[in-house]
Amino acid sequence: MKLTTVKELYKNPEQFLDKEITIGGWIRSIRDSKTFGFIVVNDGSYFQPLQVVYHDSMENFADISKQNVGAALVVTGTLVATPQAKQPFEIQATEVAVEGGSAPDYPLQKKRHTLEYLRTISHLRPRTNTFQAVFRVRSLIAYAIHQFFQERGFVYVHTPLITGSDCEGAGEMFRVTTLDMENLPKNEDGTVDYSKDFFNKETSLTVSGQLNGETYAQAFRSIYTFGPTFRAENSNTTRHAAEFWMIEPEIAFADLEDNMNLAEDMLKYIINYVLEEAPEEMNFFNSFVDKGLLERLKLVASSDFARVTYTEAVEILEKHNDKFEYKVSWGTDLQTEHERYLTEEIYKRPVFVTDYPKEIKAFYMKMNEDNKTVAAVDCLVPGIGEIIGGSQREDDYEKLVARMKELELREEDYQFYLDLRKYGSTRHAGFGLGFERCVMYLTGMSNIRDVIPFPRTVNNCEL
Ligand code: 4AD
Repeated sequence: MKLTTVKELYKNPEQFLDKEITIGGWIRSIRDSKTFGFIVVNDGSYFQPLQVVYHDSMENFADISKQNVGAALVVTGTLVATPQAKQPFEIQATEVAVEGGSAPDYPLQKKRHTLEYLRTISHLRPRTNTFQAVFRVRSLIAYAIHQFFQERGFVYVHTPLITGSDCEGAGEMFRVTTLDMENLPKNEDGTVDYSKDFFNKETSLTVSGQLNGETYAQAFRSIYTFGPTFRAENSNTTRHAAEFWMIEPEIAFADLEDNMNLAEDMLKYIINYVLEEAPEEMNFFNSFVDKGLLERLKLVASSDFARVTYTEAVEILEKHNDKFEYKVSWGTDLQTEHERYLTEEIYKRPVFVTDYPKEIKAFYMKMNEDNKTVAAVDCLVPGIGEIIGGSQREDDYEKLVARMKELELREEDYQFYLDLRKYGSTRHAGFGLGFERCVMYLTGMSNIRDVIPFPRTVNNCEL
């Protein structure tokens, strides 16, 4: 059966007006009088629904009128212009076939539901306006990201999800094992004997594809990963998920400055792309989710991001310590409240903060000449705080080994990574963009649970 989509109707109405078409979709609302009725149908192809008018001349008029919100229909009829109405056109139906009825206890009725309630029905929430907009924009952002990197010749690398090393060294890994938890095989010293496990070693779900990504950057020069990552971080916040997607470009023959330029270009590209490709959805967010969103994004797309060192940022923040729950001083990690203060109150635009103390950053970051700070960069944005974390990488073999020793990392777990510094090491840099935080930033949604189809967070792995 050839179905016309509602999107096609809106994009090219002249082609369809006064012609017979067939659409398939779900009832958003339905009301009838004795001789005719109206059904608002959403077919999922477009943010706007379509009104269907049906008449008692149809054999199954009574059956149609009995249908509940949520029922699936296939409607055939003529598309007619309705210049006086809110919608530009409607279908005068000649046939309405009920493909699947909907029980009267359908949880999505024609009223406003809270986001909290909708989280309890994550299998049905994509049928609401808000989540139609969120998940279409999420899909478009993913496409824009691929397009951005592909246009620039980056190679998309699929890094593994099961790994034997901890990229961030933070120990926040979900273990992957086939061992019987009740009867764990033990070594003489009481530790678990992983030689009996599937991979013959201890393995986990990846927290980042970076280390594997770096190996491909040393062959292709410019690469990116885009895949799921997992963190057993016990942070029950609106910005943390246990399973989230990350985009990790890695560029050879490049330093921190090149890295920031790439990140800034990428964010601006994504913003322009969704403003262009999803105007209905973006207007919806601007009206109902975050007033001022469009103005803010347009400003970001057309102005330079601020750049400040960690040391300078701390000097600024210390002056406002009375406003913070956690007081700032040199050496402390910046909390969300500090990040948001910098980007929302001080700079009022995205900010790159660079050169953090080595103690609060990962082992692979390039040591600066002061021997105290590393060439790290975080990108902070209003409303969220950190959206990107990255660095120039330590490319000197001796220095990297020394740093790993200091942090008591086992060299044998990172042999492949050290090899890169032995065979044609280059200056190189990269970053990780948290995909969900990016979606939050572009939609104005304030909880990460509302931008992931089926979120996994502390105490929550439903569906
Ligand atoms: O700063 P992070 O930990 O950096 C890395 O993993 C590096 N290996 C990236 C790289 O240089 N290739 O994480 C990067 C980004 C953060 O800025 C944040 O946006 C997101 O990933 N992120 C999370 N998003 C949702 N839930 C979590 N639990 C997150 N942890 C990090």
